[in-house]
Amino acid sequence: MRSENPVYYDPEYRLVNVFRYTDVKETLGNFNKFSSQFGKAFNPAGGPISESIINLDPPKHTKLRNIVSRAFTPRTIEKMAPQIREIAESLLNAKKGHEVDIIKEFTSPLPITVIATMLGIPLKDMDMFKKWSDTIVGGSETSFTNFPKTIEDMKGYFQKLMIEKEKNPDESLVYSVLNAEVDGEKLTMMESLGFFILLLVAGNETTTNLLSNALLTFSENPGTYEAMRDDSKLIPQALEEVLRYRSPVQSIYRVARDDTDLSGVPIRKGSIMVPWIGSANRDESIFEDADKFIIGRKENRHIAFGEGIHYCLGAPLARLEAKIAMEYMTENFGSYEILRNRKMIPQESTIVYGFKELWVK
Ligand code: HEM
Repeated sequence: MRSENPVYYDPEYRLVNVFRYTDVKETLGNFNKFSSQFGKAFNPAGGPISESIINLDPPKHTKLRNIVSRAFTPRTIEKMAPQIREIAESLLNAKKGHEVDIIKEFTSPLPITVIATMLGIPLKDMDMFKKWSDTIVGGSETSFTNFPKTIEDMKGYFQKLMIEKEKNPDESLVYSVLNAEVDGEKLTMMESLGFFILLLVAGNETTTNLLSNALLTFSENPGTYEAMRDDSKLIPQALEEVLRYRSPVQSIYRVARDDTDLSGVPIRKGSIMVPWIGSANRDESIFEDADKFIIGRKENRHIAFGEGIHYCLGAPLARLEAKIAMEYMTENFGSYEILRNRKMIPQESTIVYGFKELWVK
């Protein structure tokens, strides 16, 4: 598609698919041409999330993002490192030598527990929070049915948590979001809830997929795991290459604000655009031997975390979690094996790329 139909209108789904690196960057990054604002009807997660930054354009996007961005800078996130390591250890330390579904036991609970800790969810409520998270990102029919009730439950829960935090201020994200002001006004409950739910939707499954994709990719490339075990400095670049090679988010949506064009192809106002990050990250004109997994590429300009004003807010957190997870594994597990005779169930999605079940020993 990149060479023959780089900007391709699919009449069946009425979508404009964008495949080349430079065009994908333009579609993601040029908010004057391509909007993130679709309205509620289009958003699969419905209600509150359509009020959150990922579905907004400037100026509202800028104001809301500024409120939360401080909590996600690399410097602030780095302070979480000891806690993340503890969580990784508690999840993995009894698993040595056992056959485990690594997604159920490790790569899924890790990001959920980390974000719950950041939000300031008390330990006693952690299981309930994990269930909500599963329902919201689950994508199964059951989770779809339970979705409205979960949103109501979460609303009630966060309302109570807000009152509690008001009485006992702390450094949690819930406290800072609920007390933040935009133009002298506090966020509405729906705006705050939208943000909390966005963190679950945008941050958990993606990080889970990065880790599971990493384990699969390292196992397909003999010597990689051993090299990282011998020199932990290789871990960040190995993870960056996983982000490029098996991008956890494959595609995103935008809508054309006006009649326009992309690389000379006319685009009608209102067209739904699908910039394919997964394809851009394999564009041969940008990445030499794009279909090969190569640690230590000279310049790895992948766009797995997006481009422009919507660039992933959680990128420093995802990178830190994945780095700590791999450090813990390489320090404590001499080797591992993907059990291909057990179930290896891929995600059924054109948006995220990863596995629902992956067995490892
Ligand atoms: C946005 C990827 C982890 C929170 C995005 C976007 C991408 C992305 C591609 C851009 C969306 C767009 O342009 O419309 C990923 C990947 C992750 C990851 C690959 C893991 C490997 C996280 C984590 C969090 C997070 C851990 C937070 C806990 C967000 C938020 C946005 C976002 C809030 C919206 C930013 C905005 O609209 O300004 N992410 N993400 N992400 N991500 Fe992530």
